[in-house]
Formats: sequence, structure tokens, C-alpha cells
Amino acid sequence: MPPRSSIILGISFGHGDSSAALVVDGHLVAAAEEERFTRIKHYALFPTEAAKYCLQHAGLKPSDVTILAIPKQQWKHAGRRLSTYWRHPQLFSTAGKRRESAPKFANWLKEMGLGRARMFSCEHHLAHLATARCLNPEEPMALLSLDGMGDFTSATMAVADEQKTQILERIFFPHSLGYFYTGMTQYLGFPHYGDEFKVMGLSSYGTPRYLPVLRELIRENDGFGFELNLEAFPILRNPIQFRIEKGQPYIDPFYSTGFLTQCLGIGPRNPKRQPIEQVHRDLAKSIQCRFEEVADHLLHALYAKTGMKSLGLSGGCAHNSVWVGKIPKRTPFQNIYVAPACHDAGLAAGAAILAARSIVSVEGGHWGLLGPTIEEMGQPAEAKKKKHFSDEASLVRWAAERLSQGEIIGLAHGRLEFGPRALGSRSILADPRYPGMRDRLNERVKHRETFRPFAASVQAEYQNDWFFNSFHSPHMEAVFEVKPAVRDQIPAVVHADNTCRIQSVEKETQSFYWNLIEAFRQLTGIPMLINTSFNDSEPIVASEKDAMACFLKSDLDHLIIDQTVYSKAELNEVATTKDLDASQSVTA
Ligand SMILES: [Fe+2]
Repeated sequence: MPPRSSIILGISFGHGDSSAALVVDGHLVAAAEEERFTRIKHYALFPTEAAKYCLQHAGLKPSDVTILAIPKQQWKHAGRRLSTYWRHPQLFSTAGKRRESAPKFANWLKEMGLGRARMFSCEHHLAHLATARCLNPEEPMALLSLDGMGDFTSATMAVADEQKTQILERIFFPHSLGYFYTGMTQYLGFPHYGDEFKVMGLSSYGTPRYLPVLRELIRENDGFGFELNLEAFPILRNPIQFRIEKGQPYIDPFYSTGFLTQCLGIGPRNPKRQPIEQVHRDLAKSIQCRFEEVADHLLHALYAKTGMKSLGLSGGCAHNSVWVGKIPKRTPFQNIYVAPACHDAGLAAGAAILAARSIVSVEGGHWGLLGPTIEEMGQPAEAKKKKHFSDEASLVRWAAERLSQGEIIGLAHGRLEFGPRALGSRSILADPRYPGMRDRLNERVKHRETFRPFAASVQAEYQNDWFFNSFHSPHMEAVFEVKPAVRDQIPAVVHADNTCRIQSVEKETQSFYWNLIEAFRQLTGIPMLINTSFNDSEPIVASEKDAMACFLKSDLDHLIIDQTVYSKAELNEVATTKDLDASQSVTA
């Protein structure tokens, strides 16, 4: 009788970005965020559809699951937690809310048919670290998980060799670099969960004139540590209120208006009444600079302790790609591995990897492409006028020609991304040579703030010709400086500070996408495309129906669904616009 398979379902829920991941006999075969199915951004309740997809993808039933892996250990650091709560009893109110969810979880397990699986739990930050460690398990590396808060901890440093991962130090509640960034993001008038990306984009337009003040709001300690100013962020007196409404997470503002207004000389921005002005750009730049100073301090402490040149990064703060791209210049770390889903969606995969207790490989070779195909999603769209390409080479040539003529394509091809970045599976693609392309995409496709930058997908073998000090960035994890000699060739992806966030595309793991960029390179000499997520103020599209709805309501010219093409002009839904002027200059 063959040995029983090890089937581990990891699930993450109760904070932003619920998710599920499946490890079968040491292979991570599927992972997905629940928001892509529910169409509710950062969906925070149980990952019902994501878990169903993972099992269906592997041809398994819920009763086949041998281990249910959960990245949460509420009793961890119980002594420290209780003594903090004892001194600040108002914190018990937030702990009580978490306990209330326990019976509902038992019901969910029963409804899902998962009640018989053995439970495995691990600490929040260990799960984060596992998602970076697995990217190169043969290489000894230093590890850093940097976050808002999880299991009473905001940061964890560790060291890993081929045998084990050893925790070295932690930073505990209430001190958190993630809280600092989130609190200041709220102060700048960006109230939604996940708005930190907006501050990072805005920071490129400012000067860091508030940096001396911000150094008083979070101060480094000797070694691996820092302290949050609890007058500026009085979270012991007034606990952070985290709410989930209709599946969506909310964090109420937790800064002290009086204290910050006095320190900074400007009050919190009201987004309904106040436009973004230069003071806000300068504050964004100061926030970003202070974040980088403190994060670099932690990295120097990590290097001092480990002496290693390789670094694995995870935790929500590791999605700060502006900081990540500077690490090799500013610290001794030279080989950087950043998890595809550093935020809490990655925890499901991390927990499942830890439960496997062995090296885990990934199906398809790309850690960020583990979601459902268009076919697995079902939900076909209803549109009659379409063109089918029987071979991939013709499709790629056709798409490259359309792009080179300034047309915009929505691409839904292959497995859905796991993580916040579109990586060429559910992407909007455009030509980076047109200066007006960024404004067209922001205003008429994405309907978002005009200051938001666009990233580039670059053939990995050419990236060093275009960017300074770049390293392999398959999950679009880092921002690099564009070399001066080539900046005017790709104006639509050069940000205000001459940088660009990039995705390194390799033929081995993304052959269709690499071939598409190669066809574009042969036409234009440019080995990259603008790549922005295929959505319009909603979660990234998952199904054909989602993609078609987004295509019809926005100013996209063409939609590619696997090897079928829909064109706006032929569908006669919205007039195609081709008013790009190559002589336009980049505007801030
Ligand atoms: Fe986390």
C-alpha cells in the first residue's frame, strides 16, 4: 500500500487579505487570495472560495486534507502580553473581540468538511519568514520579517542554514514600524486599508523637510530595536480599532491630532476638502525617508549578528519597494529574496510550508503565479465579436504590434497572481515610450490619482542595461534608478525621481509573457512593457467575466483572454482613443 500523501491546507483570515494555499507532498501547488473571488478588496473573513479552488486544482476533496495549517499563536508571548494588558486594561477590549470569532471558525470548518484534519499552528512572523526562505532553501541567509503586528510582535530577525531557521530577536507590541507608516498614511488623508502604497508613490515628488521631526516619532535603539512615540500614537491608552465590515478591513485613525499638529505645524489632511499640496508631498517624502532609516538600522543589526550577505525579506513592510531597491547600496546585503506575498495573504503559504517540515518546491517554478487559470475560474464572458489565434507566436506578434502603436491591452493569460502585484497574468500592458501614456492610464483606465507611477516588466537579461544596481525582481519587489542615457526612451515608466519599479521576466518561468516582450523588443528595441494590475479600483480581475467587465468600462483597446482577442472598436462599445502625442512631456 503506498504511503498516505501529505496534504496541507494553509489558511489565513481575520486580518486583511485572507487566503489559502495547498502543499501536496512537498510541492506548493496552489495559493490564492479570497478577494479575487469575492471581489471585495482586502477581504478579511474566511477564505472559502480560495480554499475550494486550491483543493479543486489538485483534484482533492476537503476530507483528503491531512493538516490544516494556521499562522496564528495567540498564546505566544503570553507573559509579556498579559503584563502589558494588566498595566493597560483597555487593551483587553480588543483581545475579547478576537475570542468571539472562535465558535464561528469551528462552524466554518464543519461547513467546509475540514473538521477531521489535524491542526498545525505557527507564529505569525515565522510564517512570513518561511515565504522568503523557500525562495532559495539551499543558501544560508539572514531573515527579516517587518510588519504592523502579528502575535504581539512587529518584527523578527532570524538566521537560516540548510537544516533550520533560528529566531534571533523580536520587537514587540506596541512598537511597530508598520504602525508608524500606517498612522502617518492616515494623517496624510489616505484612510483605506492598504493605502501605504500611495504615500510611497507620492514621496517621489517631495523633499524630506519634516525628517528631523519624524525622527522624534520613532527612535532607534541600540541593536535590533526602535521605540514608537506613544504620545504621537497613543495606542496603549486608546487601542487600535480594527473592524471588518462586509468582509472589508478598516483601521480607525490612531494618531494624536494635537501632538502631531504641534510637532509638524500642519494638521491631518481631509481628503474631501483638501487637495494634495507640496506640504503633503514633502511629508510623504519625510515618512518614506524615516521608514528607510529605521528599516536600514534593523538590517545593519541583522548583519552584525549574522555576518551573512544574503537576505530573505517578508512581512507587509517588505512591500515597500522603494526601500527594498536601495538595500544593496546601503547595507552589506547583496543577494535579496523578497516573498511574492509579503503581506498577510502570504501567511497561508508560510504556514503550509512550515507544516510540511521539509524543503518545499513550487508548481510551475514561479512563486507568484499559483492562482486559478481562466478556465479554472469558469464564468465565461458573453461577447460575440472575437478573434481566436490558433498559435501563440501569431498572437504575440499581433499584440506587440498593437502595443507599439500606442494601444492598450488587458491581458488575462495563465495562472492568476498570488500577491498584490500583477505579473503578466492579469495585467494591463502599454508602450513605455509614450510620455502621455501614464496620464491616460491613470485618468481613463485606472481612474486613480495622477501621481501614481507605473511599473515595467523587463526581460531579466536586459535589466542591467537600463537600471543601476538592479537585482532579480521576479515579484516586482524593488524600485531602481533608471540610467540617465535611456530615461528619455521610456518616459512613461520613469518616476519623478528618475526611478522605476521593475519585474524581472525570465523565459524559463514565464515563457508567454517573455515572448510577448521579446516581440515588442524586436519591433522597438525596448525590452520592457508598462505593466499595471488589471483592475479599476477593485481587486485584480480573476475570471473572464471580471476581465470583460473591466475592459468594457475602461479605456482599453484590446482584451486578450488566453488566445482569444476582443477589440473595443469591433465590439463598438466605447470609441477607441488614439490621441497619444509622442511629443508630450512627462507631467508630475
Ligand atoms: Fe503580518
